[in-house]
Amino acid sequence: MMMGFALFLREAIIHPCHVGALFPSSKRLAIYVAEQIPPPDSPGLIIELGAGTGAVTAALLDRKSPQHRLIVIERSVKLAKHLIRRFPDLTVIQGDACQLRQLLDKYTHVPIHAIVSGLPLRSLPPNIVKTIGIEINQVLQKGCLYMQYTYNLWGKTLAPTQHLQRIRHQRVWKNLPPARIDVFLHT
Ligand SMILES: C[S@@+](CC[C@H](N)C(=O)[O-])C[C@H]1O[C@@H](n2cnc3c(N)ncnc32)[C@H](O)[C@@H]1O
Repeated sequence: MMMGFALFLREAIIHPCHVGALFPSSKRLAIYVAEQIPPPDSPGLIIELGAGTGAVTAALLDRKSPQHRLIVIERSVKLAKHLIRRFPDLTVIQGDACQLRQLLDKYTHVPIHAIVSGLPLRSLPPNIVKTIGIEINQVLQKGCLYMQYTYNLWGKTLAPTQHLQRIRHQRVWKNLPPARIDVFLHT
């Protein structure tokens, strides 16, 4: 079995636009992302888009409330298989965030409380980002959180839909490369 880092690097070399990084997320970045999710007052879903090797997934699982169920979506077949091996009890969906509604079809009885995205929005083609934005608008209720991490430390905020209003951000230097986390409210 190929180790997570080697697998990630291989996918990054073969599909650079879709992976958008050479290294998996650091523990510090992962913990910071997970800490942004407020404790729920009712059961709900947390959806992670582009889980890669599962660095952020592990932090989300460690810190999530028992009321939250985590579902991860990963486009790469190889990385999705890796996630299933690494987290045998987790719901891992191998699929494209462009089909978010369809992928989550059988979970619609539970509201989505937050979406965490590691999708490389800056390197994905604009039409793909637009489609993902339309899908997010369909599944995420108003007032819920969307989190996006990016390696563009100072640049313009990049959100897949205009219906996301940034409420805070944080730069995480202990990541390779350093990253910024933007936290948005769905409006
Ligand atoms: C920057 S990496 C995430 C790194 C991850 N946090 C880790 O530590 O391994 C982006 C991930 O998004 C996935 N991805 C890219 N486009 C996607 C799409 N349309 N739907 C779902 N996943 C996608 C890639 O396969 C890759 O695993």
